[in-house]
Amino acid sequence: MEKESLQEATKHLLLAYMQMSEFIKNPLIIEKAEGIRIQDIEGKTYLDGLSGIFVVNVGHGNRAVIEAIKAQLDRLTFAPVLYATNPVTLELVQLLSTIVPEGLTTFKLFSGGSEATEAAIKLSRQYHRQSGNPWKYKIIGLYGGFHGVTMGAVSATGIPIRKVPFVPLLEGFLHIHAPYCYRCPYEKQFPDCNLTCARMLEEVVKWEGPETVAAFILEPIMNMPGMITPPPGYLETIRDICDRYEIILIYDEIVTGFGRTGNMFAAQTYGVFPDVLCMGKGMSSGYAPLAGMAFKAKIAKAFWGPAEAKVEFSHAHTYEGNPLCCAAGLANIRQIQERRLVENSKAMGEYLQKRLKERISPLGVVGEIRGSGLMVALELVKDAKTQARFAPPVGQKIVLAARKNGLIVRMDPHWIGLAPPLVVTPAEIDEIVEILERSMKEVL
Ligand SMILES: Cc1ncc(COP(=O)(O)O)c(C=O)c1O
Repeated sequence: MEKESLQEATKHLLLAYMQMSEFIKNPLIIEKAEGIRIQDIEGKTYLDGLSGIFVVNVGHGNRAVIEAIKAQLDRLTFAPVLYATNPVTLELVQLLSTIVPEGLTTFKLFSGGSEATEAAIKLSRQYHRQSGNPWKYKIIGLYGGFHGVTMGAVSATGIPIRKVPFVPLLEGFLHIHAPYCYRCPYEKQFPDCNLTCARMLEEVVKWEGPETVAAFILEPIMNMPGMITPPPGYLETIRDICDRYEIILIYDEIVTGFGRTGNMFAAQTYGVFPDVLCMGKGMSSGYAPLAGMAFKAKIAKAFWGPAEAKVEFSHAHTYEGNPLCCAAGLANIRQIQERRLVENSKAMGEYLQKRLKERISPLGVVGEIRGSGLMVALELVKDAKTQARFAPPVGQKIVLAARKNGLIVRMDPHWIGLAPPLVVTPAEIDEIVEILERSMKEVL
């Protein structure tokens, strides 16, 4: 199709979380991509400072992954999970079992992150129902947490704008405050706070009745509120409370998995392990739709019985474990291992934070730089001493200026997020930081 016809066709499309009447005025239509660079249909190139959207961990145009998908196309493209599996799915779960955090033994595969969190919620409820705790059904999450868009996932999400249009949501979902130390919801300071935000989970559980609480779900690093990183001891305290009240701890590692935070999973970055782990995005680096959940043998055992016991997990998708997607995931994870991308994520993440401190902090509008590995945010403030925010917020303008200057970064009114592919080099980081600095100066 001609360029003009493509632009015209955007009128027939509804994209994500944006006003299409604005988008179609100057639509970004991506034609191709290679490494950490993408090119639009006008021929303009951009540095992908966001890995698509925390997805393309091995970078764009990876030949090994592409060839693996092509080979799988000639072999088998569909296997019905109702009564069969296939070799490439089995190879993938075998490899996953060697890289997931300790204690996770069993996998269920999906096509997207929301399917994974939705299933984790249902798994938790059914697990308790057939393990002697039939009244445990409540799911607790964090304000600011995001877990996807299906009804269970959105009920667990703690962001009003993503939920309110769909009320009434599901019964039995609660939220507590996040470990947002820079703007502590309890107006305390770490470590004197004695981790009030984590201990509040126990208060809520006690008041709700421990016999009613099934699971607690969190992202180890929270993406949507600006890469909120847990303070030391936070996850340990949460783990301890969950253990004492028989609450399943679910990590949503859909963003943080597959090397993003400088370890294969953020659970390994913090050394505190969940009962159920949801994965997606970087699992296939976007070469095919792939997600999954991993869980402990103790949970799996509750679904393992003679046919007449009817304890099987009452949940399935036609495309779960699709062979093409598994081939993409398998080749993608092998690339992450062979090219030592987890190590690169850690090293480049440190280098990125160093460069941001050198070049962006002097602009005087950075309240905090936080994150881990190649998942980094700059919280923007008008006044670093008072932590006052810009009004009106400038994040959106900076993101648009960066795009004009050839850099894609994450947009939020009060913070800028950076998460380039894990193949990024020091020279490319310098380029990213240079464009960001220029764009910020233009706006400020
Ligand atoms: C932390 C987190 N969980 C779940 C999801 C939902 O994943 P998907 O968009 O693949 O359904 C997302 C998507 O951005 C996410 O960031």
